[in-house]
Amino acid sequence: MRTLIKYALAATEPKDHIVVKGWVRTRRDSKGFSFIELNDGSCLASIQIIADRTTAGYEHIAHFTTGASAIVEGSLVPSPGREQKWEIKANRIELVGPADATYPLQKKGHSLEFLRTIAHLRPRSNLFGAIFRTRSRLAFAVHEFFQSRDFVYVHTPIITASDCEGAGELFRVTTLKGNIDEKPESDFFARRTYLTVSGQLEGEAFACALSNIYTFGPTFRAENSNTARHAAEFWMIEPEMAFCDLAGDMDLAEEFIKAMAQCTLERCADDLALFARFVDKEVYNRLQFVIERPFVRVAYTDAIQILKRSGKQFQFPVEYGVNLQSEHERYLTEEHFKSPVTVYNYPRQIKPFYMRLNDDGKTVTAMDVLVPGIGEVIGGAQREERLDQLLDNMRFHKLDPQDYWWYVDLRRYGTVPHAGFGVGFERLLMFLTGVENIRDVIPFARTPGNAEF
Ligand code: 4AD
Ligand code: MG
Repeated sequence: MRTLIKYALAATEPKDHIVVKGWVRTRRDSKGFSFIELNDGSCLASIQIIADRTTAGYEHIAHFTTGASAIVEGSLVPSPGREQKWEIKANRIELVGPADATYPLQKKGHSLEFLRTIAHLRPRSNLFGAIFRTRSRLAFAVHEFFQSRDFVYVHTPIITASDCEGAGELFRVTTLKGNIDEKPESDFFARRTYLTVSGQLEGEAFACALSNIYTFGPTFRAENSNTARHAAEFWMIEPEMAFCDLAGDMDLAEEFIKAMAQCTLERCADDLALFARFVDKEVYNRLQFVIERPFVRVAYTDAIQILKRSGKQFQFPVEYGVNLQSEHERYLTEEHFKSPVTVYNYPRQIKPFYMRLNDDGKTVTAMDVLVPGIGEVIGGAQREERLDQLLDNMRFHKLDPQDYWWYVDLRRYGTVPHAGFGVGFERLLMFLTGVENIRDVIPFARTPGNAEF
């Protein structure tokens, strides 16, 4: 019979007996009675407890300090205060675990930077409680979105032997000591292995059997960029569809982002209200806009023209053939189009081997979805389904088809046009909540030089 505080606060009538358990946020004492704000993380709000000399355990009230854990039994009664509808008149309070004055989360607001140094305690703050409840609800929404469309959830491996993106940003997995490159065949897996940068290649194998699949799991990149948008460990959602082309891929990506925005508005209302107050005043407008308006679609070549004509001084000069940097992406989505933008048909040389070569022989069927405040949130493509062309792509990217023999096989046996994309779950959360740093939307961030918790 513990009642979660969110249900206590949502009660429609008083209750003679209720038990709540949680952590003390604050306590105020008056003559002979005390107010305790108790929070259990089930919702943003804390519940007010009133205890007095008639409450069993009141003799220990001085130990009910900020951060201490407690069990409270009493009755749920209408609150005379304006701030809450219900409060608990306690007839028993029990201190479960004390917290002394060194407890670092005191009532005053703390900076996000400081809270990162206490990543084990920050979920007990209002903001981080809200962020991680939202993260959980959206993770569920991801599954709802794909399951309701008959996509099959596939658990792709975390340890792999291939570099899907060909960018060389791999973490090595080895049990060897000393020179790990001397005899890779004597390593645990009898070959060089890495933490996965993407489940796509394995996802394609499953799409070419189960038609529509998605993965949702941890992904690793040893990218030494200390930005607000890069983490060394992040979660990626990767749908893959057989019998689908680039247009269908872009449609699904757009539908997906819209559905996640809708879910945030509908299912995370209290937490979203907190983001709107303290994190990003524009968050409601943005979500509404994203839901209502179609995304702009622009070919890479046209995007380059727009950037060149912008008159902007970019740190990285724009030329056909360069990869779009975050400053370019943000100019397109924030200043030029003022809308999410899907850029497609990128030059062959700046995209991975698996993308389908267009008839122009120069571009591939890539697509990136760019959103305001973040830049790229989704990267995807129609895949090269033609055996000869895939082998040619591999040579072009200096890859050995032998290393990808099973992937090549998919083009040998019942090949089909297929397409998919990858969504960075943390970047999606940043976009939906307005939180500006990736370190603040993942429970325990892994970034260069940082793996303490
Ligand atoms: O664009 P990327 O590299 O695409 C792929 O990995 C494809 N294999 C996906 C596919 O087609 N199945 O990564 C996809 C997304 C990016 O758009 C970005 O949102 C996120 O993953 N991402 C990162 N998020 C956080 N930290 C990093 N270091 C990230 N690298 C990529
Ligand atoms: Mg990308």
